[in-house]
Amino acid sequence: MELVRRKQRDPGDDLISRLIAERVETGELKPEEVAMNGLVLLIAGHETTANMIGLSTLTLLENPEQAAVVRDSDDPKVVANAIEELLRYLSIAQDMIWRAAHEDLVIGGQEVKAGDIIAVNLPAANHDPSFMENAGSLDIARSTRGHLAFGYGIHQCLGQNLARVELTEALPQLLRRLPGLRLAVPVEEVPFRSTMAAFGVHELPVTW
Ligand code: HEM
Repeated sequence: MELVRRKQRDPGDDLISRLIAERVETGELKPEEVAMNGLVLLIAGHETTANMIGLSTLTLLENPEQAAVVRDSDDPKVVANAIEELLRYLSIAQDMIWRAAHEDLVIGGQEVKAGDIIAVNLPAANHDPSFMENAGSLDIARSTRGHLAFGYGIHQCLGQNLARVELTEALPQLLRRLPGLRLAVPVEEVPFRSTMAAFGVHELPVTW
């Protein structure tokens, strides 16, 4: 709110100033809603990508042959495909997608009443054997077309292309700059973020 008030007094060339000029001054949004939008963007934009980079690094270190392909390939399509498979395989948004039913429904044989809240489990969808074979293993060469790591429908991730750019820059560069990168502790000792909205690791001790 402090930042929103500051931008109301002294606008700049930034998102919050634009939301104030184009939405608050027209009466569409309250200043509190602009602050909340900022918070959502910050968390949705940082937590997800940061965790995806940490967890993808761990996953690649555990799959050295596939890490070597990501490190050595000069074909952007190969790297792009690897990133999509990591997004699918790791499905870090887990069950952060919630929806309220507007009407009575039956989903997968399960009755859902109007007003019920449904938590959608993304790993279950992305690892569904009817979606792909051996979905529980990482295969950076396979087609992942149709994966749901960024959700689906009206609320599908608006930062997904930024996330793809960040991952495409970070992962191959990390492996190239530190070719001897390896875990500094046994994988069983890596602390996973199993109770947080975005799955990942609390820390990833490495050496090179
Ligand atoms: C690997 C990185 C990311 C993953 C896995 C991810 C995942 C998701 C998922 C699954 C949703 C859908 C939630 C729903 O349907 O209720 C979502 C929504 C959203 N994401 Fe991302 N995201 C990532 C990166 C980003 C980045 C970089 C930004 C912004 C810079 C961002 C901003 C948002 C916002 C604002 C929404 C809400 C959209 C809406 O409700 O209409 N995300 N994200």
